Amino acid sequence: MFAGLDHVGVAVRDLEQTIELYKNILGFQIGERHVLTERKVKVAFISSGGETQIELLEPLSSDSTIGKFLDSRGEGLHHIAVKVKDIKTVLDQLKQKGATLIDDTPRQGAEGKLIAFVHPKTTKGVLLELVQES
Ligand code: CO
Repeated sequence: MFAGLDHVGVAVRDLEQTIELYKNILGFQIGERHVLTERKVKVAFISSGGETQIELLEPLSSDSTIGKFLDSRGEGLHHIAVKVKDIKTVLDQLKQKGATLIDDTPRQGAEGKLIAFVHPKTTKGVLLELVQES
């Protein structure tokens, strides 16, 4: 059903400052950046040197999903994302087995791929993102 870990999402208060930290202190390579106005978030993808990336997320406003997460949990791990071949089929299967889905149908993610989220109450506290491989 799954085809590897796509990325790990980290919620941060200051994207530029975090990028500098990941680049200059930690030595990571910085990849694509996106501003998702409808989701009120700015993201930057960081290369891990392999297939799995790190996605840094900074809220554009405090009433956004990431803004509320930062207020209640602080900076840190926000979600893990796994690759799937056919996101609609996986969503149907998870639904049939009683998983709580945030997205019943896939939507467009930061990199233009189809994504959907599974609620943390199904995964023992970690938000799970499904990413359809393009
Ligand atoms: Co993500």
